[in-house]
Amino acid sequence: MFEQVDKQALAERFGKAASSYDQYALLQKEVGRNLLSLIPDEKYGNGLDLGCGSGFFLSNLQQLCNYLLALDISTGMLKQAGLRGDAQGYVCGDAEALPLRSESQDLVFSSLALQWCHEPVQAFREIKRVLTSQGYALFATLNEGSLFELRDAWTAVDDYEHINQFMGVSELRSVLQEAGIRCKTWQVCRHVMHYADVNTILQSLKRIGASQVNGERHQGLLTRQKLLRLQQAYERYRLPTGLLPVTYNVCYGVLHR
Ligand SMILES: C[S@@+](CC[C@H](N)C(=O)[O-])C[C@H]1O[C@@H](n2cnc3c(N)ncnc32)[C@H](O)[C@@H]1O
Repeated sequence: MFEQVDKQALAERFGKAASSYDQYALLQKEVGRNLLSLIPDEKYGNGLDLGCGSGFFLSNLQQLCNYLLALDISTGMLKQAGLRGDAQGYVCGDAEALPLRSESQDLVFSSLALQWCHEPVQAFREIKRVLTSQGYALFATLNEGSLFELRDAWTAVDDYEHINQFMGVSELRSVLQEAGIRCKTWQVCRHVMHYADVNTILQSLKRIGASQVNGERHQGLLTRQKLLRLQQAYERYRLPTGLLPVTYNVCYGVLHR
């Protein structure tokens, strides 16, 4: 299963990236917009952006909810989100132990945050717990096969885990079943982003705070030699357009109690 996530390190890493996040979070913007479009067209009382990051989607969510709460494990990200002033409340908390009353949320929105959880079943149990009986929870999370080009290129360099393990679709289905939460709709989409070179890919991951690998903190220094080998190994994926692809498999789900 998943290795232990060092949550404090994770929160600090995201916090450091908070001010550059919006500029580099191209995939996250695309995915979040898709997820917004799946929200059933209703007016909601209490809404929660779970793992809100820099708060990019708060203004859209705010239009749908009477009271919107922005929650993230990273105080740095929360501060950044707070600058927008689009939510009514801001809470530092963990998706696996939500500091919220049971059956208090009519809408839970969580875009690309849950893949960082150590115990996904626990996170979905918490979502179920805080949802009202008529409420909806929408999530988007990364699936197996995401970043496969980078993972493959790293194998030519060393034996460390440089890329997180992501759940496969059947594993995610079992997680939802174990959490006892029902799935209204479900879809998996492939998103391919394009970059000029490996440095830009690594830089982009770092600038959104996503360069940490769960459970493995000592991946060794990225020396010039290693970088060169990584660049050479990634070349086999270069497209006729001259760009390097970075593939993400994203699972979108609409849940209810
Ligand atoms: C890739 S960002 C996505 C942010 C935002 N939802 C978006 O789509 O732009 C992931 C966010 O999840 C937060 N996060 C990671 N693990 C978390 C946890 N266990 N509980 C709450 N937030 C978490 C991180 O701090 C980070 O802000």
